[in-house]
Amino acid sequence: MAETLTRSAARNIFFGGSLFFFIAFAALTVHSHWYMVNDSTDRKGLTDSVERGKHVWEQNSCINCHTILGEGAYFAPELGNVWHRYGGRENPQAARAAIKGWIKAQPLNVPGRRTMPAFDLSEEELDALVDFFRWVDGIDTQDWPPHPAG
Ligand code: HEC
Repeated sequence: MAETLTRSAARNIFFGGSLFFFIAFAALTVHSHWYMVNDSTDRKGLTDSVERGKHVWEQNSCINCHTILGEGAYFAPELGNVWHRYGGRENPQAARAAIKGWIKAQPLNVPGRRTMPAFDLSEEELDALVDFFRWVDGIDTQDWPPHPAG
């Protein structure tokens, strides 16, 4: 065995390693894309109302305080699973009413608790928001967040 690395061995390791990791990177990219498009996107459930709900979410900058699937600010609870937390999978009507009721009841101004401001949203906008939350809850996040309150 050679005591020192020869120039050609070093070159082969460099090019071989680069090629190996490039192929691994490309394969994982294709896999992620394929997974997102085919497995985890509920295209049928992506209704106009879900889209409107996303616009309401964006127009009112809910993300300035909340996260959705981990994206956003950490001032207020994660809302990607709010539908699940409010029992929407078992009782959709009650969850819809509870989420809308919560938003309409703001600000609660409970001393010592963070306050959510009031938003002047129509019934249609509130329903669209709930449809959006419901759709996001259906995304297969591979059991993330690990804690339901996350
Ligand atoms: C200024 C910060 C802020 C903004 C902006 C904000 N929220 Fe909140 N939100 C909060 C806080 C703080 C709480 C938790 C309050 C508490 O637990 O008493 C909360 C709680 C909630 C909850 C209940 C979550 C749960 O698990 O009980 C929902 C639903 C919600 N917000 C929806 C929205 C929507 C929809 C918008 C945009 C239209 C929005 N929030 C914008 C601060 C905000």
